[in-house]
Amino acid sequence: MQSITEIKSLRSQIKAWRQAGLSVAFVPTMGNLHRGHFSLVEKAKTLADKVVVSIFVNPMQFGANEDLDNYPRTLSEDKQGLAELGTDIVFTPSVSTIYPNGLGEQSFVDVPGVSLGYCGGSRPGHFKGVATVVTKLFNLVQPDYACFGEKDFQQLQVIKTMARDLSMPVEIIGVPTMREVSGLAMSSRNGYLSAEQKTTATALFKALGQCAEQLKQGNKDFTSLKAHAKQSLEQAGLKPDYFEIAQRDTLKTATLDDNHFVILAAAFLGSVRLIDNMQVDI
Ligand code: PAF
Repeated sequence: MQSITEIKSLRSQIKAWRQAGLSVAFVPTMGNLHRGHFSLVEKAKTLADKVVVSIFVNPMQFGANEDLDNYPRTLSEDKQGLAELGTDIVFTPSVSTIYPNGLGEQSFVDVPGVSLGYCGGSRPGHFKGVATVVTKLFNLVQPDYACFGEKDFQQLQVIKTMARDLSMPVEIIGVPTMREVSGLAMSSRNGYLSAEQKTTATALFKALGQCAEQLKQGNKDFTSLKAHAKQSLEQAGLKPDYFEIAQRDTLKTATLDDNHFVILAAAFLGSVRLIDNMQVDI
């Protein structure tokens, strides 16, 4: 596995692959890799001849009150895991490589519609930061395919919308969420939880599952389904941020005419903000 930090070296390797007629799949990450990320790399390997993974903790997607400095950084373990999986390039640029003029004067990409509400409502500017860095990374890696986890369902829809709206020559692939045996969605943030908190956190998966079951049984009383879910989260010791039932593709609020839903939820356990979702077809 090649470890590359500079744009020039990355571009020259990608160019050589392109000239040899090889296809490229890309997995952008912020590091602190777990089995969920590795499943993205495994998917990427099935799609293309070469796989590039980026590790970049993107300051542009963190709010002022969010702890960018304490985001877990585990670069040597991450590289070892990626090498074992047969990754071709790990790209680990510095902040000044990606934002040489700082964030103040940086051009940006803003995706309307799907960026609004849910995590976009709770974390203003977050998806602008995600869309901007992913655009930059796409321009550097020029992948045929890019893999994103369905755990960040709204992010996946933002990236799909951006790629479509801006005619980006890349196919966006959503990869199903990896879960612990308990149902807890794998996330870098789980590293902040004690063993006891990890058990409490499964309430989020359970609340989503119960709501999904009700929808499948034809219960479209969205207001009471959401109220019931929030109550069960509170009873388990979580503080709901949002619990919403949306149209799967547009992320607009679900209506009685809809049959393809995604239930989107975020909740705090202490200071740790957990997100998860469940797709339902009826
Ligand atoms: O999902 C993430 O880890 C990040 O939001 C991403 C897509 C790597 C952009 O920084």
